[in-house]
Amino acid sequence: MIQVAVLGYGTVGSGVVEVIEKNKEMVNKKAGEGLNVKYILDLRDFPGDPYEQKLVHDFAQILEDDEVKIICETMGGVGPAYTFTKQALNAGKSVCTSNKELVAAHGPELIALAKEHNCNYLFEASVGGGIPIIRPLNYSLTAERIEEITGILNGTTNYILSKMEKEGADFDDVLKEAQEKGYAERNPEADVEGHDACRKIAILSSLMTGKNVDYNQIYTEGITKITSRDFDYAKSMGMSIKLLALSKEIGEDTLAMVAPCLISSEHPLHMVNGVFNAVFVKGNMLGDSMYYGRGAGKLPTASAVVSDVIDCARHIGKVIMCFWDNEDAKLLNIDDIERKFFFRIKSGSAEKTCALFKGAELVRLPEVPEECGIVTPVMKEKEFATLYEQLGDERIGTRIRME
Ligand code: HSE
Repeated sequence: MIQVAVLGYGTVGSGVVEVIEKNKEMVNKKAGEGLNVKYILDLRDFPGDPYEQKLVHDFAQILEDDEVKIICETMGGVGPAYTFTKQALNAGKSVCTSNKELVAAHGPELIALAKEHNCNYLFEASVGGGIPIIRPLNYSLTAERIEEITGILNGTTNYILSKMEKEGADFDDVLKEAQEKGYAERNPEADVEGHDACRKIAILSSLMTGKNVDYNQIYTEGITKITSRDFDYAKSMGMSIKLLALSKEIGEDTLAMVAPCLISSEHPLHMVNGVFNAVFVKGNMLGDSMYYGRGAGKLPTASAVVSDVIDCARHIGKVIMCFWDNEDAKLLNIDDIERKFFFRIKSGSAEKTCALFKGAELVRLPEVPEECGIVTPVMKEKEFATLYEQLGDERIGTRIRME
């Protein structure tokens, strides 16, 4: 019997206990040995909970128990979770986590520490919730040179954008409704400003490059400036607007970015709607592949944590290879990246704007004759920014990148 401890009895932690219990037979068979949750660590008490007797308040009790071989860290945040993870790995206990903040901030250090102590630090649930993406990158696509990873990695923002598109609703109204339904956090900043997706693409980029992609260096823009009018233009062009988190090899360097982008109906991510997530991966041999599913939620996320527990159980005393070095990846400055841009202006400025952005195309919507949309030719971000600035008050809303 392999003893397991769960740190944090919140949504994901309680889901981990539920998955291990509900799928006991299958989980044990696949682990090759019985798994038992011996401890659940939480500051709170849960009177009447079926696993009440397993609750402990002191991490030392878990750390000092030699029977515990695998720890699920489902606490979140970087404070105590970081300390507990280091202590566990130093004691030779494997750690499986859903904590993207901690993985993005200290991934290579924790992976190296696990290796040093002949155990594992696994993080399948940290990106894409229940969607298998870390393991495919680590295990399955090992013959590939990965050239691009583009994901819809945040369910909250994808839900909001999908609703805006479908119902013509405004951002603030959809966010409020999403909060009332419990889809969006009461403090939605990490989601709507793109910080959550940024950490997730930092993790995927690091696995893509094998080097450390620092999330602080990733250009990140959220969805708060996108309006229902932008979707009217997108629709008229046969496009959609999605919050994309992307990472691309360009020459020897890497472009990593999070931003709302216009994508055509041909793009594989176009059909990803609602709370669903998807990750598009392009390999130099395989070509395109895509991984789709529930990127959040108690049981999907817990299922990914338990898949890591099973992997650890199969590899007690052995290290599962993970290529994520401490060396920093060289990230390209977004200013030098070339693409098309879309923006809106007052109708009276159409001629001037087309002269400024040579080769630009006009997009008109019959219902709003007072304004028009502009699609620029392919140009560098910094050149676009300089010209766009010159339009001053003639501009309406925000500019959106085209992918
Ligand atoms: N807030 C995240 C989302 C949860 O909306 O996708 C999963 O990381």
